Amino acid sequence: MTYSVCLIPGDGVGQEVIPAAAEVLGATGLPIEFVWADAGWACFERTGDALPPATVEAIQACGVALFGATQSPMSKVAGYRSPILALRKTFDLYANIRPTRSLPAPDTRQGLDFVIVRENTEDLYAGLEHVVVPGVVESLKIITEKASTRIGHYAFELARREHRHRVTSVHKANIMKLSDGLFLECTRKVAKEYPDIAYDEVIVDAMSMHLVMRPETFDVLVMENLYGDIISDLASGLVGGLGLTPSGNIGEKAAVFEAVHGSAPDIAGKGIANPTAVMLSGVMMLRHLGKLDIAARLEKAIFDVIAEHQHVTRDLGGTASIDEYTDAVIAKLDESVPHHEIVPPRPKAAARHKAKLATKPEA
Ligand code: NAI
Ligand code: MG
Repeated sequence: MTYSVCLIPGDGVGQEVIPAAAEVLGATGLPIEFVWADAGWACFERTGDALPPATVEAIQACGVALFGATQSPMSKVAGYRSPILALRKTFDLYANIRPTRSLPAPDTRQGLDFVIVRENTEDLYAGLEHVVVPGVVESLKIITEKASTRIGHYAFELARREHRHRVTSVHKANIMKLSDGLFLECTRKVAKEYPDIAYDEVIVDAMSMHLVMRPETFDVLVMENLYGDIISDLASGLVGGLGLTPSGNIGEKAAVFEAVHGSAPDIAGKGIANPTAVMLSGVMMLRHLGKLDIAARLEKAIFDVIAEHQHVTRDLGGTASIDEYTDAVIAKLDESVPHHEIVPPRPKAAARHKAKLATKPEA
């Protein structure tokens, strides 16, 4: 069986890390057909559409996608909406899963293994803002029983599936008594259905402190959309930065995997971005497709290259370019192929990227 995966590089470093992830996914030996699709700010400037219908159709057809990052303007631009937000809405990708796990990298916290389960469809992220009168803006925070209960179930099911022991609901119900109060009421109710898993509640500001001081004590954290956005960047910082942390936006009919980071304009185009986050998002995607062995092999190859510290990128204290790092991961993958399978010699990543960029639609 051939798997179809939609690849959406987007803007900035997305244009570098997605081809790198495609390289290592291709090198696993799993038959994958890559369907390249366009989205983002450059796409908007070129076509007037940040998320062309052809991209939505490609995701629909493939069922899974790997998304790079897109750049969003800080002020309102008529007709522009962040493509990843639009995709979360379009496909009802209600659960945003952001695992935080220590990597074998120096100067990073060890012993961490927790998962943030972020509600992905409502809250202040709904973008319902308007000017009431000049100088006064109203932004609506929408919290529903349906979405809060659904994400609560997802968190507990994930805990069971991954043999985890505790779900912590993160909130600010002491101030937002109605909205966060409802969220809390829902997760509390869901918890009663899972007597085998412990449940507790922590206020989001205190959670920020606890995560800095004792992150190893957490297991599964469930929270609303905006808290999940902020807390997951904090979590990235604990394990070595945004170049390392993957995520998956999961719905019933489609799943879009992406690094937690954005388009990183400060380092884009220099060949120095760390593609680990998006490669690990690829690992999550392989698991989602049920390819557990191949996922484990790719994950181990990535971890081994990081542990050896010979070919790591600058954010991890190394000097390797994205191509050198990608080649090192592929070499590790090749080493791990069962000995009866012959691995054909591969051209260097730089040459492969060039060939790939020449064949993919302008992005
Ligand atoms: P960012 O995540 O792009 O960058 C924050 C910092 O992390 C920068 O110092 C950057 O160099 C570093 N970083 C990010 N990815 C890295 C990688 N792969 N390797 C090494 N270092 C990396 O966040 P920022 O600068 O706040 O936002 C830039 C743009 O990205 C904005 O337009 C924002 O709207 C957009 N964005 C898009 C997202 C998406 O498409 N899902 C998510 C977050 C931001
Ligand atoms: Mg974010």
